[in-house]
Amino acid sequence: MNTKELKSVAQSIVAKQKGVLAADESGPTIKKRFDSIKLESTEENRRRYREILFTTEGIERYIGGVIFFDETLRQTTRDGTPFARLLSNRGIVPGIKVDKGAKALALYPGDKVTEGLDGLRERLAEYKQLGAKFAKWRAVIDINDTDLPSDYAIRANAHALARYAALCQEADIVPIVEPEVLMDGAHGIERCETVTARVLEEVFTELDAHRVIFEGMLLKPNMVIAGKKCARQAGVTQVAEATARCLTRYVPAAVPGIVFLSGGQSAEDATDHLNAINAMGPHPWQVSFSYGRALQAPVLAVWKGQESNVAAAQQAFHTRCYLNGMARDGKYTRTMEAA
Ligand code: 13P
Repeated sequence: MNTKELKSVAQSIVAKQKGVLAADESGPTIKKRFDSIKLESTEENRRRYREILFTTEGIERYIGGVIFFDETLRQTTRDGTPFARLLSNRGIVPGIKVDKGAKALALYPGDKVTEGLDGLRERLAEYKQLGAKFAKWRAVIDINDTDLPSDYAIRANAHALARYAALCQEADIVPIVEPEVLMDGAHGIERCETVTARVLEEVFTELDAHRVIFEGMLLKPNMVIAGKKCARQAGVTQVAEATARCLTRYVPAAVPGIVFLSGGQSAEDATDHLNAINAMGPHPWQVSFSYGRALQAPVLAVWKGQESNVAAAQQAFHTRCYLNGMARDGKYTRTMEAA
């Protein structure tokens, strides 16, 4: 294991103003996104869409890493440049989603566990050859007001995350460790904080037991937020305070960066929350983003699958990258949205 390289890659992904573009939608997920603009999910449409994102001028100031899905890591621009090389040449680190999705946890109705450990060592070796320098594994923690998640589901997911992270570091690939407590449901923000705290505590216990080097990883957590169906939605300051408190208690200072998922928040809310958390700093880690929907939803809405909309779609993407770059410094305001 090359600890120095792991640390330096992790730090470069969350360098000043920078975060991560999560463009690793699996086949069924990208189909859902394309359905929303009535576009067929063909291999060429998926390639074209990713090319629009990756060739947007100027995003390298704000995007330190991009997470690919397997198919995308094997694709090229129209003129034949592999996407991974295109990004590396622009100083953006290519990464790869390596989990095989969340499945029902046997005998624990409602809980899920993420699969994909079998053969992972061999897959990581191939991804490394294809240019990936970091990876992502997402654990899905379903939450309600009473019995979800079970303690056992938290342990099973933390254990899988730690086995994945150790395999990554063995292969000199930086693991992004993503335990996502979902936003679905009617629970309040307090319940989200309790569950997120318990999950993070267990995740770091397992990472430590598996000898994962904290300096050579990134954490991708949810923000602490009320469930979508909760009647008492928390304000921006309350979300930022609860999130910062929870992370300060449970995430070791040795971790170089925390890159939040957006989890179904609107693009504006995701940026506003990130900004407020940074404005409360300094924090021991870089506090940044690894957004999928919050970076891409506005792009899809403008593009609509039409070549004539490509320039406007790239402008919309650049704007989201820039605004999240501002939020990294606590310098974003909602008024910038209209500008
Ligand atoms: P969202 O920002 O859309 O939640 O996606 C981030 C991600 O990579 C989830 O695994």
